Amino acid sequence: MNTKTTSALLCALLLSACGAEHPDGAALAQEKGCVACHGLNGKAIAGSYPNLNGQWERYLRLQLIAYRSGKRDNAVMNGMAATLTDAEINALAEHYGS
Ligand code: HEC
Repeated sequence: MNTKTTSALLCALLLSACGAEHPDGAALAQEKGCVACHGLNGKAIAGSYPNLNGQWERYLRLQLIAYRSGKRDNAVMNGMAATLTDAEINALAEHYGS
């Protein structure tokens, strides 16, 4: 089986992991490692990390887009956001925001 077939198969099995449909924000937060600093529900694990809970979904989405493009500069978050797709950003903002 070649790589393309394998990933197509995986996509069929794990629809949400492929970013095309509607990724599960909570699962993504764990998969991408956001939980290590921001916690699973947006209550940060230490004072050096911002809480994301209680923030507007739209605000979080715009921040992630700005980190991804480099418009908002932060070494950690630029790296975290670099490879996120639009669908993943939407799902993460929806999960953490309100
Ligand atoms: C290693 C710790 C760490 C990880 C992992 C991490 N972040 Fe962050 N995050 C930070 C820090 C530190 C800031 C504040 C950066 C700054 O000053 O701009 C931040 C800021 C943010 C902000 C902006 C908050 C605000 O109030 O403006 C968002 C949104 C965010 N992170 C989302 C995420 C998401 C989604 C993930 C997973 C893809 C993630 N972060 C992973 C440490 C982390």
